[in-house]
This record gives sequence, C-alpha cells and structure tokens, in this order.
Amino acid sequence: MNKTKKKLRTYRDSGRQISCITCYDSSFSKILSDANIDIILVGDSLGMVIKGETNTHSVNMEEIIYHTRCVSKNNKNSILMVDMPINSYSDSVNALKNAKAILENKGDIIKIEYKDEHQDILKQLISQEIPVCAHLGYLPQFSLSKKDIKIYGKDTEERSKILSQAKILDDMQVDLLLLECVDPNLAIEITKSTKAPVIGIGSGDKCNGQVQVLYDIIGISENAPKFSTNFLKECRTIEEAVAEFKNYVSNLKIN
Ligand code: KIV
Repeated sequence: MNKTKKKLRTYRDSGRQISCITCYDSSFSKILSDANIDIILVGDSLGMVIKGETNTHSVNMEEIIYHTRCVSKNNKNSILMVDMPINSYSDSVNALKNAKAILENKGDIIKIEYKDEHQDILKQLISQEIPVCAHLGYLPQFSLSKKDIKIYGKDTEERSKILSQAKILDDMQVDLLLLECVDPNLAIEITKSTKAPVIGIGSGDKCNGQVQVLYDIIGISENAPKFSTNFLKECRTIEEAVAEFKNYVSNLKIN
C-alpha cells in the first residue's frame, strides 16, 4: 500500500480528528510541519489569498507547482496535498500528466473538485496508484456566482446526490474525501458510511478531520467565512495559534 494511503488509514484508525491547513510558502510550511499538522494543503485558494483575485479560476499548473515546491522545502512529516487547478483535469491525458507533475514535485496526494463527469478520469488516476482526494459539496472552481456559496445537501435530491457520489468514490477507493459546506448531518452520514477518511470545512465538526485556510485561522483574511475561527486572537504567536488549532481538532469527537 502506498505510504500516503497507509498514513491516512492510520490517522483514521487512531480515532482522533485529522488536522489540515492550507499553505503556500516554505516559512509557513515549517510552522505547520513543526506543529505536526497532519495534512498541509497547497490549495487553489491561493488565487484569492496570494494573488488577490476574487476566486480560484485564474490559478494554473505552473503556479501550483511553484507553490508546491516552496511548501515542500520545509515539510517534514505532514502529508502534502495539492489542488489540481481548474482545467488541469479536463480529460484523462491532461489529468494524468498534471497529477504526475505534482507528485514529481513532492506532492503526496492530489485533490480534485469532483463532478460525475470526472469518474473515469479519477478511475484512471487511481489505477496508476496516484493518491486522490475527492472534494464534494461547494466546488469553488465550478462556481460562477456568490449564490453558490451555501450549505449543500439540505434538500432530499441534493442530499442523495452527494451521498451517492461519496459512495461511488469510496467504492473506487479514493484515499480521502473532502466535504466543503455540506450539511453537518449529511457529513456525519458520509463519515459513518465510507472507508475513506472524511475531512470537512464548514461541514460540522464530526467528520474524521477538519480543514481550514491558514489566513482565516490567523485572522488576516479579508473575507473569512463565518465557520472559521481566528485562533491567533487568544494566542501570542502564530506558532501557538497553529498548535491551538491542532489541539482543538485532535480533541473533537468523530460522528
Ligand atoms: O483551495 C483551498 O483552500 C481548498 C480548501 C477550502 C478546502 O480547497
């Protein structure tokens, strides 16, 4: 079994929640890695927090590889997860080439915003032993309006769609599921019913783990979402705030 898959299963079996924070450079990577954050995510949120754009749509592979290299320099033991940016997985050839480029630059697992049309592309990546995280719920890359920012899975139709996507992905043996803005009760149901660990952002606090954007938890984001907490408010240093986040997440109950 691939070492990332193994590590994720160990995390899941430990019964404590998994911590995941986004990161875009080597200085913060050192802080997160020293604090034993389980997963460091080179997210395409860099479109907003680094580039100052209003969404993730301008982020490309070149930028993702550049930030992956920066983050990997100071990463010791954390799993390095990397977003496949918009248009980088539009077909199987494109997806395989770009996923391999991420792994060659020290990414451990790639993340894809999942729509049904990506099923065959994902199957192909998994058949090539590429560790995959599938992102469900709110999908920023496919969002064209602020109206898309809402809680997903509240009504029956949307709920059964997300549930069945999670099951298909789990049966395909994805390594990790990430739920963004998914109804907390649905997030619990998915967490209970899948073998793959489930980490959530804005999806309640009972998944197998929690993801946050770094700049939200240290209180410097311009538009931090309501569900994020500024951990730096009660701490003296960024290092302490990150340790506090890790401690908070580790002590959350699952399910
Ligand atoms: O790019 C990102 O930061 C993300 C998180 C919001 C999960 O995908």
